[in-house]
Amino acid sequence: MSTIIDGKALSLSLKEQMKGRIADLEKQYGRKPCLAVIIVGDNPASRSYVRGKIKAAEFTGMDSRLIELPEYVKEFELLDVIAGLNADKAVDGILVQLPLPHHIDEDVVIDSIAKEKDVDGFHPMNVANLWLGRKCIVPCTPKGIIAMIESTGVEIKGKKAVVIGRSNIVGKPVAKLLLDRNATVTIAHSRTQDLAKVASEADILVAAVGRPKMVTADMIKPGAVVIDVGINRIMVPGPDGTEVSKLVGDVDFDAASEVAGYITPVPGGVGPMTITMLMENTIECFLNRQ
Ligand code: GUN
Repeated sequence: MSTIIDGKALSLSLKEQMKGRIADLEKQYGRKPCLAVIIVGDNPASRSYVRGKIKAAEFTGMDSRLIELPEYVKEFELLDVIAGLNADKAVDGILVQLPLPHHIDEDVVIDSIAKEKDVDGFHPMNVANLWLGRKCIVPCTPKGIIAMIESTGVEIKGKKAVVIGRSNIVGKPVAKLLLDRNATVTIAHSRTQDLAKVASEADILVAAVGRPKMVTADMIKPGAVVIDVGINRIMVPGPDGTEVSKLVGDVDFDAASEVAGYITPVPGGVGPMTITMLMENTIECFLNRQ
């Protein structure tokens, strides 16, 4: 049986510590860090994530602004809003919730965020600096994953790490962070031959593919640290015979937890840590701007 890495509890204790830090920062600098979050349209999952981000900001005591724009907003109108926040001295962090509607070019939007306020770490300058090993804003989900692995006490140095998924938001940056900590890193993906064999050699396995329960117990090395980044909504039979929706990860949790040494649950694993790292990045941007 594996030990569960409780992302919710870890997040709570980090956010409690931030409360004190933010109160101190206000005394020292005369204002609190401020996070601005922009959401375009009514995607229910995006709305729920954004609510979580604003709630976390309120919990820590930092200032926050929520800017809600309609689905049909023009790209130039969104860029105008971002330009206003870039110029606003009271705003430290700017996050545009992705995905954006198809008529808006995400790259143009990301490029328009001042790199000093890019709390997501998605701006090309931040990505370049991450890969060059220079000071940068580290993307929230990968940063949270590393914190969760480190919370187990398992040393990353010298270990075989396999990341399944090669997205710009998770797969690629988390692979770089593991490499920085001297893991031997493989980035696997949908075209990897014999994925089960590759995965089963991992001491640290990060699943970030967005396919419900695709990582099965046979793909896990006994004792491995398993980090499940997936947030998939599936329909399952409910108590009265009707279908109900359930949140599951990319890992078949029940079977995997019989094999893994440490495992993150879904929900309550990577999700809360991503939000907590966003709070940390906002504080970091605030301090960089002083
Ligand atoms: N959509 C899914 N994950 C993220 C994230 O980490 N940041 C932003 N801005 N949008 C997302």
